[in-house]
Amino acid sequence: MAQDQSNQPAEPDAIADPDPRLLRRFPAMEDLERRAQARMPRRLAGYLFGGADSGLNLAENRAAFARLRLVPRYGHDVMRRSTEIDMFGQRWGAPIGVAPVGMLGSLWPGAEHALARACAQARTPFCLSTFSANDMETIAPLVRNCGWFQLYAVGTLDITHDLVRRAQSAGYSALVLTLDAPVHSKRPRDVRNGFQFPPRISASFLAEIAACPAWALGAARNGYPAHGSLMPYAPAGLKGPAALDYLHHNVGIFSITWDDVAAIRKLWHGPLIIKGLQHADDAALAVAKGADGIIVSNHGGRQLDAAPAAIDSLPEIVARVGRQTTVMLDSGVRSGLDIAKTLVRGGQCAFAGRGFVAACAALGAERGAAYAIALLRQELSVAMAQLGACSPAELQANPGYEAVRRQEQ
Ligand code: FNR
Repeated sequence: MAQDQSNQPAEPDAIADPDPRLLRRFPAMEDLERRAQARMPRRLAGYLFGGADSGLNLAENRAAFARLRLVPRYGHDVMRRSTEIDMFGQRWGAPIGVAPVGMLGSLWPGAEHALARACAQARTPFCLSTFSANDMETIAPLVRNCGWFQLYAVGTLDITHDLVRRAQSAGYSALVLTLDAPVHSKRPRDVRNGFQFPPRISASFLAEIAACPAWALGAARNGYPAHGSLMPYAPAGLKGPAALDYLHHNVGIFSITWDDVAAIRKLWHGPLIIKGLQHADDAALAVAKGADGIIVSNHGGRQLDAAPAAIDSLPEIVARVGRQTTVMLDSGVRSGLDIAKTLVRGGQCAFAGRGFVAACAALGAERGAAYAIALLRQELSVAMAQLGACSPAELQANPGYEAVRRQEQ
């Protein structure tokens, strides 16, 4: 990757625009989500798009973005704008990243490979989940220096520390430690649909698969779903469903403490990012334990249904620790405008989870991955122009954009 650290706006953006034929059919991420729902087996779509309990937090993440109004600024030359940013000593194509999604390569076969390659191409952070279908060593060379590894505390502290060491040797440039899943929350849609992992091959699941030939073909090519990075922790000789069953019962998530965070900090030689915080005191603790970044997130509305929208938690966290650490966000991001709103509220980068998976499912993994990145980036660029900003830094520097805040002052 080019290490151009200059802050000068580049030439009119050199990164690929979205394919115009796709743009006519899928002008917004919502269009991709609709198509994805139709192309995925029902219980997998339910798992991807569902939220915790009543789904209030899931809806609130979107509603809070929708409520946020920005005041446009005109009369500036915005022809030479660039979405590029510097973060953790690297130059990225845009303040956009792919959030970790467990079983990504099983939800849509090939999605892990495709998103890794597309992210390397577009200089976009790609965060591989602990529960990825493929092992981290296979994905690392595809994503080159744009790969981050997401860590859950799983099984035992020894296993967890081993994952950290493996991520380091595989070449992931940042470690993203997720704290907001100390337990599994109830997701009623999954209960109703009979979703479980490892999947039970029932007549109803086979009927769902038969209705989704593109998924079935991909799954046939990519093999039985797995937790690739965790396979070394199953007893030698156990394979396929038996190995997954073992992992499910013996290498599950356990709740991590701030002392464990400090130990992982010592082990990991690179940026350590804590994901899943919404309380400013937790953000301050993360910084005290040596975190280099925070992802303000409620796991996309999948954990505490009563939690506030992530975008509403962002300003307080930026105010508390924004000068000491890199504050990022996910949960509810579906457009370039959402990314602009994240920047206006002081975030450095916005991640999306479901949107990228939906794009892979809607268009096929390779086309979908590249298209989603290009779509979000182009939307962000247009939003920047409407706000009179030539760079993400200019969006963050101007406090006058946010309509509500101006009225309150
Ligand atoms: C997730 N998320 C998640 N986070 C994490 O740290 N490790 C993981 O393995 C997973 N797995 C996962 C699976 C699925 C199906 C979803 C939808 C989400 C949470 C994810 O990283 C991110 O916080 C949210 O997806 C962001 O919200 P949006 O963009 O989906 O609205």
